[in-house]
Amino acid sequence: MAKERVTVFGGTGFLGRRIVAALVAAGRDVRVATRHPEQEEAARDDRVESIAADVRNPEAVARAVQGADAVVNAVALYVEAQGLDFESVHVRGARNVAHGAEGRSLVHISGIGASETSLSAYVQARARGEGAVREACNNATILRPSVLFGPNDSFLSTLDAVTRLPLVPLFGRGDTRLQPVHVDDLAKAVVHAMDDPAATGRIFELGGAGTYGYREILALVMAARGRRRWLVPVPFAVWHLLAVIAAVLPNPPLTRDQVLLMCEDSVASPDAPGFAELGIAPRDFADALSECLR
Ligand SMILES: NC(=O)c1ccc[n+]([C@@H]2O[C@H](COP(=O)([O-])OP(=O)(O)OC[C@H]3O[C@@H](n4cnc5c(N)ncnc54)[C@H](OP(=O)(O)O)[C@@H]3O)[C@@H](O)[C@H]2O)c1
Repeated sequence: MAKERVTVFGGTGFLGRRIVAALVAAGRDVRVATRHPEQEEAARDDRVESIAADVRNPEAVARAVQGADAVVNAVALYVEAQGLDFESVHVRGARNVAHGAEGRSLVHISGIGASETSLSAYVQARARGEGAVREACNNATILRPSVLFGPNDSFLSTLDAVTRLPLVPLFGRGDTRLQPVHVDDLAKAVVHAMDDPAATGRIFELGGAGTYGYREILALVMAARGRRRWLVPVPFAVWHLLAVIAAVLPNPPLTRDQVLLMCEDSVASPDAPGFAELGIAPRDFADALSECLR
C-alpha cells in the first residue's frame, strides 16, 4: 500500500532532494528533517514541510517521524569534522532513525562495499550502521548504490574540473571499476522499495546500466567536453601521502577515506537483488552524461 506521509532525513542533500521530488511526484506529503529548516522554507512544493532534526538527537528524530507512515534515511557525512564523526552520524544516528521508524516502513541508504573489514573508517561505519539499523528495525530495506551522478553533482563536477588540467592524474592506473547510478533512478528505487512489500527487509545493490573503469569515465567526460588531455597514472601510495599532507588543512581537498574508496571497485554483486527486482531499468552513464553536464 502507498505510504502517504514520509519523513526524509537528509532531504536537503544531493540525493535527498531528488527523493523528495520523486515522492511528491508520486503524490506523497513529505517532511524534510534537516539541521537547518530555516534555510529550507523557500522554493518547495505545498506538499513539503521542514522540521529541525539532527539524527544524533533521538528526541528530535522522534518528533520528526511523528505521524509519518514511512521514513527514509539519506543522511551523509563524508569527512569528519569537529563534533561530527562517522560513528555518531552513520552508526548511532542511523540507529536513532531506525528506532524512530519502528512500526513504519524504513528505507535506509548505504553504499556498495559497506564492510566492517574495510581500511576506510567511513566504509566501516556504513557497515556498522547497516547492522545497527537491522537490529533496531529488522524490516528496514537497505539500498546500497554505487557512485551517484546527476546535474550539479560533486562526482561529475570534480571530473569536469580535473579534466581541465593539462595533465590528468589517475588513481593508480585508472582501473578501478565503477557503476555510476543516475540520482533520479535511485530516487525512483526509494519510492518503489517503500511501496513494494516484496522489497521489505532486503538489501539491494544498485548499479547503473554500464560498468566503467575510472580511466574510461574520464575519457567519456573529456569527449563530452571536447577536451584532449594526457591521463597520467599516479600510484596509490602517492595519493595516500597527499591525503596525509592535506589533512592539516581546515577543509582538506582530499582525504584518506576518499583515496581508499578509489582503491576498491564499486560494482553491484550479481547475486544481490538490484534495480531489476524493483522493476527499474537504470540509465547508462555514457548516455546520460551530456545532459547532466549541460
Ligand atoms: N553521492 C554519492 O555518490 C553516493 C554514493 C553512494 C552512496 N551514497 C549515499 O547516499 C546518501 C546521500 O548522499 P548525498 O551525496 O546526497 O549526501 P549530501 O549531498 O552530502 O547530503 C547530506 C545530507 O545529510 C544531512 N545530514 C548530515 N549530517 C546530519 C545530521 N547530523 N543530522 C541530520 N541530517 C544530517 C544533511 O542535511 P542538513 O545539512 O540539511 O542537516 C544533508 O541533507 C548517503 O547515505 C550516502 O552515503 C551517496
